[in-house]
Amino acid sequence: MNRARAVVELLAVVLVTGLAVAPGPATAPAVADNGLARTPPMGWNSWNAYGCDIDQDKIRAAVDALVTTGMREAGYRYVAIDDCWQADARTDTGALRADPTRFPDGIKALADHAHAVGLDLGLYATPGTRTCANIYAGYPGRLGSLGHERQDAATFAAWGVDYLKYDWCLAEQDGVDPQAGFTLMRDALAATGRPVVYSVHRQPQQPVDRWRPAVANLWRTTGDISADWGSVLDVLDRQVGLERYSRPGAWNDPDMLEVGNGPLTLAEDRAQFSLWALLNAPLLAGNDLTTMPESVRAVLTNPEVIAVDQDWAGTQGYRVFDDGDHEIWRKPLSGGDSAVVLLNRGTSAATVTATAEQLGFPGVTGFGLHDLWTGQTTTTRAGTISVSVPPHGVVFYRVSPDRG
Ligand code: GLA
Repeated sequence: MNRARAVVELLAVVLVTGLAVAPGPATAPAVADNGLARTPPMGWNSWNAYGCDIDQDKIRAAVDALVTTGMREAGYRYVAIDDCWQADARTDTGALRADPTRFPDGIKALADHAHAVGLDLGLYATPGTRTCANIYAGYPGRLGSLGHERQDAATFAAWGVDYLKYDWCLAEQDGVDPQAGFTLMRDALAATGRPVVYSVHRQPQQPVDRWRPAVANLWRTTGDISADWGSVLDVLDRQVGLERYSRPGAWNDPDMLEVGNGPLTLAEDRAQFSLWALLNAPLLAGNDLTTMPESVRAVLTNPEVIAVDQDWAGTQGYRVFDDGDHEIWRKPLSGGDSAVVLLNRGTSAATVTATAEQLGFPGVTGFGLHDLWTGQTTTTRAGTISVSVPPHGVVFYRVSPDRG
């Protein structure tokens, strides 16, 4: 083949497949065509709080707690049952069913309960033959959806499921191709006619495959988070550079919140929540909502931080400064302000300084600074801002330029 012809054929492939030469919002393929998750999904998921130790009472209690704590009013919508809801075998007709001891009333009753109070239900499945709990924790049964995709999607739709987490779990050992396997369930869900937000976890999580935004509403970008500061920072570090993939309907998923879990302090909880909001991450609480202290509730329901997460002005937030222990992350907001997180990874308080350029307003000297955690607003004409940031913590500002 001569060179000119090769170029023409390559261009044809690019046009037909929708593959773009360089990643980025302007050239990337279309997002999953289900019209859902136009803002990052918000809700609660059972895994970080309970692992495999779940039953219908805990899920019902989470539904009720979302209402009584005010989290529903704050925007939390999905109550997601993670792994370990299944009986150890399919039915005679090959259908999945819930564990009859821990979920005696079945999944549909939980979906009905959620729907009755204006919430939605999420569920968990996998594209291979096994779930992760089967692989890593000895949960009984080979319950993956391989070969049952249409049947399982129809089952989920009949139960009233509104959100599916489809988790890779070594499906390569079953010969599943990631793009094909995840696309099969996307299409099976679409065929049910029920709107179902589609969350995928492909391993390895990075590099982010070009097809993910066209297949799923959200995709994991790291392995599993755990409830410690080091894990939160490790996940954060792996988000650098991923901003080009996310947009309404298709979000990077740096895993669920650990706010309120383990030994995380209030400063660390605020830091994770701030940074996840800046990243337009799905906000899936992972704590026990029935025992949540007011301090944790206040973090999870901070309306101004949630508003940053839900705001789309063309890009998720990204890191603009890093000297090791101190970082600055910025996100443009739709009204023209910047959301700015000043992060102190170190163990003692530190002064972090941001230039006008780092704040997103080169050449500007006057700023209004609205602190999203204290609620205070201050002004400066210094051209830079310098602020004391607590150890293992953040200061989170909405920055307005004063161009007068
Ligand atoms: C994987 C996922 C977790 C959780 C577990 C359940 O590890 O990454 O989020 O769903 O499986 O087994």
